[in-house]
Amino acid sequence: MRTVDCIQKKRDGLALAPEEIRHLVRGFVNGSIPDYQMAAWAMAVFFRGMTPEETACLTMEMADSGDRIDLSAIRGIKVDKHSTGGVGDTTTLVLGPLVAAAGVPVAKMSGRGLGHTGGTIDKLESIPGFRTELAPDEFASQVNRIGIALTGQTGNITPADKKLYALRDVTATVNSLPLIASSIMSKKIAAGADAIVLDVKTGRGAFMKSLEESVLLAERMVDIGRRVGRTTVAVISDMNQPLGYAVGNALEVSEAIGVLAGEGPADLRELCLELGSHMVVLGGRAASAEEARRLLERLLDDGSALLKFHEFLAAQGARVPGEADRLLGRMNGSANGGVPAPLGKEAALRLAGLWRRQLPAATFTREIAALRDGFVTDIDAEAVGSAAMLLGAGRETKEAAIDHAAGVVLRRKVGDRVEAGEPLAELHWSGGLAEGRTEQASRLLLEAYRIGDGKEAPPPLIRAVVTEDGVRMRNAVL
Ligand code: URA
Ligand code: CA
Repeated sequence: MRTVDCIQKKRDGLALAPEEIRHLVRGFVNGSIPDYQMAAWAMAVFFRGMTPEETACLTMEMADSGDRIDLSAIRGIKVDKHSTGGVGDTTTLVLGPLVAAAGVPVAKMSGRGLGHTGGTIDKLESIPGFRTELAPDEFASQVNRIGIALTGQTGNITPADKKLYALRDVTATVNSLPLIASSIMSKKIAAGADAIVLDVKTGRGAFMKSLEESVLLAERMVDIGRRVGRTTVAVISDMNQPLGYAVGNALEVSEAIGVLAGEGPADLRELCLELGSHMVVLGGRAASAEEARRLLERLLDDGSALLKFHEFLAAQGARVPGEADRLLGRMNGSANGGVPAPLGKEAALRLAGLWRRQLPAATFTREIAALRDGFVTDIDAEAVGSAAMLLGAGRETKEAAIDHAAGVVLRRKVGDRVEAGEPLAELHWSGGLAEGRTEQASRLLLEAYRIGDGKEAPPPLIRAVVTEDGVRMRNAVL
């Protein structure tokens, strides 16, 4: 088989056969196909697209290009969640304990973040003592015992995707629907998921700027899942402003603790309930999304989700506040064999406060004030992420250290009224930053905010849900 013929076929708008896709992926990974030929094929795909069959085939070839994680030692249906990229995406920190409390096993492998802010691993490492390196058998047995475990990424997952993504990045071929869809799905499949819930971001700051494109991407990923036996549901959510208020590792842990204890921010809670309800249905713990949602609301409001988070932290070595032991010991008594009854809201808030006190706090904070009166009409999430990174919350290179306490806390969101001189956001940082970083971050943040004269309703958060049965629009018409 000649590579040039595969490229020409795609250039002319024809579909490649499975053997041809396999030839390209394997040849590219083993080095027998040079970058320039793979780049030419990627550009042909960019203009010509791929059929659903080709896309599913590319996905499985990439999933099989390296190690596949075997989660078969873990009981139950493993449902994984993926977001197409949010700034300060705190949903994973909430969803893990929340769906685990609902009985869906959470076996999460996570990477460290690069750029913007940290990944889930970095966030959890802001909790003193938390261990992110679990041996494979320890990982599986912890999930079987308490329903949740998280470990750092090990092994060689989807090398074909890594290499292709790097090539796409420098050949202006990232923004291709079938290439994005197969890239995301290949990683989830290699990570061992039985079922997948996707959070497809739409709007400024997302890969897909329009709702129409986002729906097409979601449909393609759901279709891949159906073809390869991994039921997939996609939620399309707005990314025209950051989710919640906090961007930065410990700041986001603190925010997640709030939601787990039944508090806000309302948008973060809402997205977690939406994504979580689909996870619970796919995990076989509820018959409908509505039933799942009622279950999850109860678990947030009666302290069960926070208690699961507490168990998870304790199991992975986090330093448990002494008062937390006393609080839970008192609640638990010695009668019911260590299975605490629901904590209740009040005890949950006390437990939340105890864990928050364990988190590192920044040495310095500064408020960014509005220059004029008006209503916030827009907040550029990417700029907020970059500001947090400048303050030390994210890393610019893989080896760089991060400051877990650093980041940004928004004080106003879209739709909020502000007077000149009132705070829009807060910077959090510690010593040792390079000269000029805080000024640069302040400028970025100020420019991230758009303030207008009229009040605009914040954009609806959940725009659509895509399942194998089709697209259901929410609060919007296409
Ligand atoms: N995220 C991915 O993992 N892959 C893409 O191609 C785009 C976004
Ligand atoms: Ca957040």
